[in-house]
Amino acid sequence: MTKLPPKLESPVPVGVIGAGYYLPERILTNKDLEQMVDTSDEWIVERTGIHERRIAPPEMSTSDMGVLAAKAALRNAGLTGNDIDMIICATVTPDMMFPSTACFIQRGIEARESFAFDITAACTGFIYALATAYAYLASGYVHNVLVVAAEKLSAFTDYEDRNTCVLFGDGAGAVVLSKINKPGHGIIDFILESDGRLANLLQVPAGGSRTPASTSSIGERMHYISMEGREVFKFAVTAMKRTTVRIAERNGIKAEDIRWLIPHQANKRIIDAAAEALGLDASRIHFNIHKYGNMSAASTAVGLAEVVLNNGLKDGDIVLMVAFGAGMTWGSVLIKW
Ligand code: COA
Repeated sequence: MTKLPPKLESPVPVGVIGAGYYLPERILTNKDLEQMVDTSDEWIVERTGIHERRIAPPEMSTSDMGVLAAKAALRNAGLTGNDIDMIICATVTPDMMFPSTACFIQRGIEARESFAFDITAACTGFIYALATAYAYLASGYVHNVLVVAAEKLSAFTDYEDRNTCVLFGDGAGAVVLSKINKPGHGIIDFILESDGRLANLLQVPAGGSRTPASTSSIGERMHYISMEGREVFKFAVTAMKRTTVRIAERNGIKAEDIRWLIPHQANKRIIDAAAEALGLDASRIHFNIHKYGNMSAASTAVGLAEVVLNNGLKDGDIVLMVAFGAGMTWGSVLIKW
């Protein structure tokens, strides 16, 4: 894709007014994985930067984690479910094929005056969901939007496949977005891109209409994540550099203007490449990959919530979020606090 989506002209001030996250208690360490597949702590840390990840208990679904993150975000915003009029859930690990995970979250937070739907853009899902929320809020169609990114990747991970099982973890992040009374602040730009020609690089091959569940699909382990790791890596480095540099350039933002880069946490080497392309100092990059691994859409959502709640953001701070994922999809969101 060479043509870029256009820059937001005179963006309506839409900002994050609350954030929260939830991570399951159980920790799966690299040492634990050494007992399960032919791998080593040293290999995983050197090749990915991951030390451990969280795993949800069997009885906990994606929406259960999403509800806990959503309640934390609502508390932080000083709102209740009744104040929300739209819920978007970004996930590739829904509770079921249907209804949407967002509808389960709606039920869990008792948001009776809202409508709810899911977005599937894999690890770029939170970026796509923020942009969608922005469009609905800017149009005036809704007033308070809850965006949740929740993933139970452990339910789709093959713990006999060392190529993938070391990478993924579970978790959920959420934000509440609203129009704010601060012209020039809030979401000031986003870039969304995808290339369906690369759909085969990363997928869960069975369980949909193309290959419904059958004894053979189960026997062939087709309900788990399948990934061309090296190809995804090459794509990711190019896409992350492209979206990071372009959104900064077209908004006249230099590396030193960025308070936090919150990137998708798939591999520390991919993040380092994107930051280097921008000339960004490591102290301005938010990392959680060492603690949680790759939580798909939830990685950037938890990252933003961690920055909001634990690091503190000042008026005027610039936050740049960038991600890539299956599809392939990639994109970025620029926020001025
Ligand atoms: N432990 C030990 N060895 C492993 C391993 C593991 N967990 N996984 C793979 N290997 C082996 C491979 O089999 C290969 O062995 P070979 O040379 O004998 O064939 C060797 O390590 C190197 O494999 P390679 O694929 O070249 O490693 P890499 O440096 O590309 O790292 C990934 C592998 C998966 C970490 C890396 O390609 C990556 O991060 N890709 C992107 C994945 C991603 O981002 N996915 C999510 C997208 S949102």
